[in-house]
Amino acid sequence: MTPDRAAIRAAAEALRRGELVAFPTETVYGLGAHALDVRAVAKIFEAKGRPRFDPLIVHVADPSALEAITATDDPRLRTLAERFWPGPLTLVVPKRPEVPDLVTAGHTSVAVRVPAHPVAQALLQEAAIPVAAPSANRFGAISPTRAEHVRGQLDVQHVLDGGPCDVGVESTILSLLEPEPTLLRAGGLPLEALEGALGRIRIPEEAALMTLSPGRQTRHYAPRTPLRLSEAPTPAPEAGLLSLGPAPIEGWGAVEVLSATSDLAEAASNLFAAMRRLDAAGLERIYATEVPAHGLGLAIRDRLSRAADKTAEPCQPAPGDDTDTA
Ligand code: TXA
Ligand code: MG
Repeated sequence: MTPDRAAIRAAAEALRRGELVAFPTETVYGLGAHALDVRAVAKIFEAKGRPRFDPLIVHVADPSALEAITATDDPRLRTLAERFWPGPLTLVVPKRPEVPDLVTAGHTSVAVRVPAHPVAQALLQEAAIPVAAPSANRFGAISPTRAEHVRGQLDVQHVLDGGPCDVGVESTILSLLEPEPTLLRAGGLPLEALEGALGRIRIPEEAALMTLSPGRQTRHYAPRTPLRLSEAPTPAPEAGLLSLGPAPIEGWGAVEVLSATSDLAEAASNLFAAMRRLDAAGLERIYATEVPAHGLGLAIRDRLSRAADKTAEPCQPAPGDDTDTA
C-alpha cells in the first residue's frame, strides 16, 4: 500500500517539474503543486474547478523550510511549531514577496503547515520545495480520505496511495496576523490544545469569516444528496442517518455510525467516507444528528453544518448551531 522510494522520487520529480501530485496527509489527501511556480499552481485551480479568490495552504517538511515563505519572527509560531508540528495545524502568517499572489489569492498573508503523514513527509523532503496543496476534491465536494476518493473525482496522473487518513478532517487553521490568535477553521487539532499553548483564542462570527478566510463558504464539503441537521429525525426508507454513536437502524434506508463508542476522534476519521457511502446509497435525504462542541466535535459540527442543504425545508438545527462559527 505505502509507496516505495522509487514512487516517492518520481512524484517529487513531477512536483519539481511543475506537475500535480495527489498525496496523503494525516488529515485528508492533498493536491500538490510547486508553490513558487505560478503555472504549476494554476493547474490546481483548473483541476479542482476552484475559484481563484480561495487561497492555498503551503506545505513544508520542516519548520526551517518556512524561511522561503515568511520572514516572521512571531514567538507564537515557534511555540506552536514545537508543540504541534508535524501535525494537523495550519498557521496564517505574513508572506514573503516571493510567494506568488495566486497561492495567497492576493493576500499579504500565507497559510503554512508541516504535515505528519510519513508519505507527505517523504515527498516534501525528497522534493525540497514548498508545496501548495488544497484538499484533493472538486471544489465544494467532500474531501478525500482515501486514494480512491481522489481518483474518483480528479483527473490527476500522480496519486500516492498511503491508505486511509488517520485524522479524517482538515487541519485547524489559526491566524497569527493579529495580537489575538484567531481560529479560521476548526479541524484536526482541538481548540483546547491551542488554548493550552496560547491562552485565549478568538472565534470570529460566521459573517466575518468570509473576509478573514475566503474559502470558508457556507456550503462546502457537500454530498449530492440533501443533508439536514436534526436532533430527532423520523426514520424513513428513503432517508439515511449519519449518527455519532450507536443508533437503531429500523425504518432507515441506510445508517452510518461514526463511532461505536461515540469517540469524537474516531468519528472524525470516519466522517467523510461515511458521508460518501450515504451519498452513493440512492437516498432522497440524509439526516445528521447532534455532535458535542468540544475536542474534534467542533470540526465535525463545522463540516456537517457546511454540508447541510440550507435551502431544504426547515428542520431542527443542532443546539448552538447559529453561534458555532468555527
Ligand atoms: O488538512 C488540510 O489543511 C488539507 C491538507 C491537504 O493539508 N488542506 C486543505 O486545504 O484543507 P483547502 O484548500 O481545502 O483549505 C484551505 C483553507 C481555505 O479555506 C482557505 O480559505 C484558507 O485555508 N486559507 C488559505 N490561505 C489563507 C490565508 N492567507 N488567509 C486566510 N485563510 C487562508
Ligand atoms: Mg478543501
